[in-house]
Amino acid sequence: MQEKKMTGEVYYPSQEAIDNAHIKNWDELNQLATENYEGFWEERANELHWYKKWDRVLNDDDKPFFKWFEGGKTNIAYNCLDTHVKTYRKNKLALVWEGESGENRVFSYFALRREVRRFSNVLKSLGVKKGDRVTIYMGRVPEIVVAMLSCASVGAIHSVVYGGFSVEALNERLDDSHSKVLIVADGAYQRGKVIPLKEIADEALKRAASVEHVLVVKRTGQPVNMEIGRDMWLHELLNLPIANQPFEMEELDAEDPLFILYTSGTTGKPKAILHTHGGYMVGTYTTMKYVFDIKDEDRFWCTADPGWVTGHSYLVYGPLLNGATIFMYEGAPNFPYPNRWWSLIERWGINIFYTAPTALRGLMRFGDAWVNRHDLSSLRLLGSVGEPINPEAWKWFHKVIGKEKCPIMDTWWQTETGMFMITPMPSVPLKPGSGTRPFPGIIMDILDEEGNSVKPNEEGFLVIKNPWPAMVRTIFNDPNRLVEQYWTKYPGYYMTGDSARRDDDGYIWIIGRVDDVIKVSGYRLGTAEIESALVSHPAVAEAAAIGMPHEVKGNSIYAYVMLKQGVEKTEKLIDDLRQHVSHEVGPIAKPEKIEFMDSLPKTRSGKIMRRVLKAKELGVDPGNLSTLEE
Ligand code: WTA
Repeated sequence: MQEKKMTGEVYYPSQEAIDNAHIKNWDELNQLATENYEGFWEERANELHWYKKWDRVLNDDDKPFFKWFEGGKTNIAYNCLDTHVKTYRKNKLALVWEGESGENRVFSYFALRREVRRFSNVLKSLGVKKGDRVTIYMGRVPEIVVAMLSCASVGAIHSVVYGGFSVEALNERLDDSHSKVLIVADGAYQRGKVIPLKEIADEALKRAASVEHVLVVKRTGQPVNMEIGRDMWLHELLNLPIANQPFEMEELDAEDPLFILYTSGTTGKPKAILHTHGGYMVGTYTTMKYVFDIKDEDRFWCTADPGWVTGHSYLVYGPLLNGATIFMYEGAPNFPYPNRWWSLIERWGINIFYTAPTALRGLMRFGDAWVNRHDLSSLRLLGSVGEPINPEAWKWFHKVIGKEKCPIMDTWWQTETGMFMITPMPSVPLKPGSGTRPFPGIIMDILDEEGNSVKPNEEGFLVIKNPWPAMVRTIFNDPNRLVEQYWTKYPGYYMTGDSARRDDDGYIWIIGRVDDVIKVSGYRLGTAEIESALVSHPAVAEAAAIGMPHEVKGNSIYAYVMLKQGVEKTEKLIDDLRQHVSHEVGPIAKPEKIEFMDSLPKTRSGKIMRRVLKAKELGVDPGNLSTLEE
């Protein structure tokens, strides 16, 4: 690959980067893995701990409900903790944490396992069993990692709800998952202020009948309401003798669920993407190892929130499966000053730094001087995720942060894929703005409406043609939706919902979503959620939301609102509506702009034509209008 002349702007890896990489020859590995992907994943699975090995690597009898490592017995938490505690890594740091106000906590692998065992005993004492759902709602504090691993240890299914979501979003997720337990922090710090998580949860719990117990983590210490018989302080339970008893991890089937994670789709309510212990473990372990090239001496920082899939796969599970040291920071990147992240890299000696384009664009604006005050020479690899990275941000990341010596891993993947799907490795030539090629063993294509592969440099729908171990298994409570949403447009292929093109070197360039998903600051939101929040306001009859290009956020939300008869169109109402969306869904969903309309463009069958609104806003041709209602 390296010898071939490539098109466009190319950054070739240094010989040193190649020599140090786990995978030195991408082409060779790719050929092997693609010819026999079952064999490739089986070999990777053999590197992990199984109480019992599988009977069958891949069961595709009931497509698209694929099963991986069927018959195998394992537990992902065992592989994250016990495996390492049994080796020289016992006293190695597993988790290094810094709070927004500067305090820090560290956990060795041994200490983290101890915390997880105590927490697991508490869960068991509350009657939490294999298959029960446990919702977790807190900020970026070590307890969130402990809580996730404890659920896995007892075989419960965790459902982490992003701490930036609000009442309605939390209520919907508690209710849909029928969670038995909610683990919530009293509050979370953000930019010196306290977000009253427990108070939000109390409101959400009013309509969540399934929740029997609420475990409250003390973080901020502000007074909270404790409902007798339902709410308990976690620290009090952890000090009971029962918490300190010996604990045996559940031996689980490879296909037993590990977690559900709600994410926005094309229509309707967010859907619960379900991942399992076995396949997800093999996928995140392998991609973490090859792409971030994890070595024992590394300190890895993924800035994502555990409430999103990146936090699950590459803040918690992927790094711990590899025995790495993870770093976690509680607060905002520019608090109290725009150098906070760079100072953390310097002080904690971070080697691998994985973040989102929106954050980079936000920090770029403050100028290079904030960065240059710090010694960032510990860095050796960088990563980007969540949305296409514009070449300008890529180059700033490469030059100003990486000092032109750190390759950037631009990783494309989704909540549904569980693991990286299109990504470079440190030994691969890079092009700013492209995630390069599919991970070895993953077969992807770009198709036109009719399902033919498009020519190089033409845009089309990105699909995945073969199964992979960390793939979504089902949508909890709604398996039909899995089939409809992903496997129907092109039977036999997984439809990603993204459009893309492939260049003459086979490099893939993501263009963006082709459905009603909007990526705001890398966060995934659905037009439906924003619209239903607006319509729940007493003044609103109908609403439509679209994503509009935004310099820092990638996209921002514009909303168009038809008011009920007789309601007056005022500036104050616009403010109220924005506040209302923030209260219902969360501050990230707050529309940037709201416009009152007398009617909304609709098809004759009554579907809102969002593309017409978008074209009008952008001042471009709206395209075919033949289905537009009079
Ligand atoms: C987008 C986040 C371009 C894409 C891991 C995808 C990206 C959606 C990239 C999934 C990238 C993610 N380049 N676009 N490197 N990574 N996306 O489920 O549109 O929150 O479909 O998972 O993010 O978002 P999700």
